Amino acid sequence: MKKLCLLGLSIGLASHSVWADTKPAPIENKDAFVSNLMKQMTLDEKIGQLRLISIGPEMPRELIRKEIAAGNIGGTFNSITRPENRPMQDAAMRSRLKIPMFFAYDVIHGHRTIFPIPLALASSWDMDAIGRSGRIAAKEAAADSLDITFAPMVDISRDPRWGRTSEGFGEDTYLVSRIAKVMVKAYQGETPSAADSIMASVKHFALYGAVEGGRDYNTVDMSPVKMYQDYLPPYRAAIDAGAGGVMVALNSINGIPATANLWLMQDLLRKEWGFKGLAVSDHGAIFELIKHGVARDGREAAKLAIKAGIDMSMNDTLYGKELPGLLKSGEIQQSDIDNAVREVLGAKYDMGLFKDPYLRIGKAEDDPADTYADSRLHRAEARDVARRSMVLLKNQNETLPLKKTAKIVLVGPLAKAPIDMMGSWAAAGKPEQSVTLLDGMTHALGDQAKLTYVRGANITEDKKVLDYLNFLNFDAPEVVNDPRSAQVMIDEAVKAAQQSDVIVAAVGESRGMSHESSSRTDLNIPANQRDLIKALKATGKPLVLVLMNGRPLTILEEKEQADAILETWFTGTEGGNAIADVLFGDYNPSGKLPISIPRSVGQIPTYYNHLSIGRPFTPGKPGNYTSQYFDDTTGPLFPFGYGLSYTSFSLSDMALSSTTLNKTGKIDASVTVKNTGKRDGETVVQLYIQDVVGSMIRPLKELKNFQKVMLKAGEQKVIHFTIEEDDLKFYNAQLKYAAEPGKFNVQIGLDSEDVTQQSFELL
Ligand code: BGC
Repeated sequence: MKKLCLLGLSIGLASHSVWADTKPAPIENKDAFVSNLMKQMTLDEKIGQLRLISIGPEMPRELIRKEIAAGNIGGTFNSITRPENRPMQDAAMRSRLKIPMFFAYDVIHGHRTIFPIPLALASSWDMDAIGRSGRIAAKEAAADSLDITFAPMVDISRDPRWGRTSEGFGEDTYLVSRIAKVMVKAYQGETPSAADSIMASVKHFALYGAVEGGRDYNTVDMSPVKMYQDYLPPYRAAIDAGAGGVMVALNSINGIPATANLWLMQDLLRKEWGFKGLAVSDHGAIFELIKHGVARDGREAAKLAIKAGIDMSMNDTLYGKELPGLLKSGEIQQSDIDNAVREVLGAKYDMGLFKDPYLRIGKAEDDPADTYADSRLHRAEARDVARRSMVLLKNQNETLPLKKTAKIVLVGPLAKAPIDMMGSWAAAGKPEQSVTLLDGMTHALGDQAKLTYVRGANITEDKKVLDYLNFLNFDAPEVVNDPRSAQVMIDEAVKAAQQSDVIVAAVGESRGMSHESSSRTDLNIPANQRDLIKALKATGKPLVLVLMNGRPLTILEEKEQADAILETWFTGTEGGNAIADVLFGDYNPSGKLPISIPRSVGQIPTYYNHLSIGRPFTPGKPGNYTSQYFDDTTGPLFPFGYGLSYTSFSLSDMALSSTTLNKTGKIDASVTVKNTGKRDGETVVQLYIQDVVGSMIRPLKELKNFQKVMLKAGEQKVIHFTIEEDDLKFYNAQLKYAAEPGKFNVQIGLDSEDVTQQSFELL
């Protein structure tokens, strides 16, 4: 009893009323509290805390509770309701030291309300909207008893063959870093110990987005300068914003798996960056050290991981099995285990769980009568964020917005696809609650509806792809084909198109095509859907493509065929309504690409901020002996930062307040942005800087700031950006982060290519 009181706990913990006070415990007590608790723990209890298990529907609950009560489990993931988690917390409260469990989940882009996929969120360039999506996700997750998420995912991805491109925020270091910070603050709120906050664990540390060839789980080989300059800053931004956790990547880095990488986990993360939080392995990653070929068996794998500083092992049993023997033989030290336990307990402390293990589980009598009730969703917010996340890529002859009085034919396998609307990693989102494009257009049109829907095509007719998609780890087969032949479906669509004024074709990928492990060699829209588009084009009717996909697709042909193209990515629960808002002009699109769209797979990578080269290709000049692919046009199909609106904008009068900058000074870069069209609208003014001559080759340009601006028709505003020495710093060959004197070009534009330029000198 006395011991328990020392822990600040008391008996009868299963009753929530004991924990009425949810104010976070004073942080200054954390270290003393954790040390004190650790003094009372047996070795088994310590090792138990390092175990994070996935709860599947088939798992024997009673056995799990027994294990918890014996102190053998530190936390779970994938159990996501209060009634599910309460008995587990009750079991923890029956354990000797009553150390609370935490409950984790992949809350990536919403919890019950699904927001657009991260790549789409990034397309909004709207930090306020992105923050709102994260805050709501946290509130919903916390209300369902969750304490921590494995997010944000801030892996820079420059190779859209990688299926997890959908899960990240794009190719640019600056943009992703800004979003990383916003997401951490959104999840954690004022403090991760608040009842409506969840702890963020940034992932996948590190460089997962750079897997060779875009093939998932592949190796990563990268120069230190590139790591520091381009790939590491978003993780650092999340950590600096206070992320309580880090999930360690599955990939290797320069020959050493992240899970066993002392440099990564100790020198960089803990020593250089000063991270004091929880490091969780990715799913089964400790065991995979054997497959990587750096551990001969489970024992060595456990040793490497604990030595590297992997605090919690996700869903493998190696720590429990091997750590006692390793300790006994002297291959690891008590301090290796203690360091890990300290972080797990510290994280639980920071989540507020020692003050109240039921902080997010609440009382049974307060449980929602229906966990899936629609009233628990945040539909209005999801719709608003979703419409901000779409990118208008083409709009010839003002095909969009559509007139509500027009006779519209809606075709395509994604027009009525509730599951796909949500995108992958859709947490607790229910497809039955998502609004399809057909639903959204039907609501928008109401009584005036002259809307016909025909399917037109399946997602794919390729059996191998279909089998793959239905084999993915989802609950049930997701891609169910219409058994009619492709030609019959196309004929039906063409017939309907001929009787309409305009065609809207919802085409692209099913959500499983842009998912973990879903790497592709071919980024075209699947062949049968392309046949449909071709046939629709041949009707001569205006053709609007609504793209749904989780990565850039090579839409070279479709760019020519379509009169308008709206990139919607996967828009979430309210996607159909949000897309209808844009199609009918109830919202004026304002998104910009957070990733370049390549012309072909052969051109990848196409990221905009590549290094200067000795023999650059000059557009319009012969290509011989310059850096290019001679069989295609150089440059992306659509550049980073690109996106149209139903109105038009102009930039003029760019000015720098000075042509020189000293180390402590500031330059004001200004530009006038004018809405030159007839509708109100928003655009993103982007500031790029080029360091013209450096001790190392510098990128052609780098995004350094941006502002999303709302302008009424005809309105203009002067936008100001401040440039300081900090904005000019980079990692040199010695990994020293400093700015070098010399000339800098400042470019301002509404995308990364079409810019106006002025220069200054750093003294
Ligand atoms: C993924 C992680 C995820 C984990 C738990 C792994 O397969 O790589 O991103 O957090 O599963 O669901």
